[in-house]
Amino acid sequence: MEPYISVRDVTHVYSNGVTAIKDIDLDIYDNEAVAILGSNGSGKTTLVKHFNGLLKPTKGKITVGGLNTRKERISKLSSLVGYVFQNPNHQTFLPNVIQELEYGCKNLRMSEEEIEERVNKAVELFELENYLNENPFDLNSSQRKEVAMASIMAISPRVIVLDEPTTGQDHKGCQRILHLVRMFQKHGHIVVLITHDMHLIGELNCRTVVMHQSEKVADGHAEDVFADKRIMDLAGLQPPQITSLAHSLPFLNSNKTYLTIDSVLQSMKVNTEEGVKIVTRT
Ligand SMILES: Nc1ncnc2c1ncn2[C@@H]1O[C@H](COP(=O)(O)OP(=O)(O)OP(=O)(O)O)[C@@H](O)[C@H]1O
Ligand SMILES: [Mg+2]
Repeated sequence: MEPYISVRDVTHVYSNGVTAIKDIDLDIYDNEAVAILGSNGSGKTTLVKHFNGLLKPTKGKITVGGLNTRKERISKLSSLVGYVFQNPNHQTFLPNVIQELEYGCKNLRMSEEEIEERVNKAVELFELENYLNENPFDLNSSQRKEVAMASIMAISPRVIVLDEPTTGQDHKGCQRILHLVRMFQKHGHIVVLITHDMHLIGELNCRTVVMHQSEKVADGHAEDVFADKRIMDLAGLQPPQITSLAHSLPFLNSNKTYLTIDSVLQSMKVNTEEGVKIVTRT
């Protein structure tokens, strides 16, 4: 199967001489959810800005849907790859929320009815009904981020890139993002998710790429990446709390990496049903 996004030996050097990503190879396929992890400044945002042509490789080649990003216009690429910026201030620029939500669809010359239908769906999902006439800059930053996400959702591009979507979100906002990623996947989208939120990755249990000092240092299933102590230490990452907690429980399989509370409870149930005694230390 052909990858939808293909990154081949890509390096990006900013005009100030900083090499932000170096020799990156990455293939992303239909229906995948890919989390990108790594410490501050490791190159995550620089990498994903190449997917919609905001940045062009200094060296190497990127294709999206078979198109070479070096040769395509940003307008074409952004109809395929929707990017929700890390900082929503860089994304919202119209005087009210409703115009913001309609903007991308209008740019793609959709019919009035289609725009209305898509925007209504996004409004409902993000519960934006009471904010439609507000200026995005009068909203708080997590609401502004939701407006940015809703406007990309209305466009419904094949690939959706979310750059740190849970930053500044409360529990409800984080749950919504989890639901959203699952829903996008169910509808056949590719989701690329930059996040420091290990709990979110644990819940998604998805493919996980780790960046460290401009290089890709791991690419595998979340379970395997979280179990790789060398990589986790190198990139300064901590697995979700439940993973560490499960490791310390004597009655759980110590070779398994638990990513969610549900998986721990499930294992405990199986153990109990199999007659394994739960020994508590006094
Ligand atoms: N526009 C720019 N011009 C020059 N250097 C830049 C620019 N944007 C980023 N950099 C540098 O490139 C490197 C990678 O930055 P990038 O923003 O891609 O990292 P990141 O992993 O997204 O970090 P964070 O977790 O803080 O968002 C850093 O050294 C950063 O200072
Ligand atoms: Mg970033």
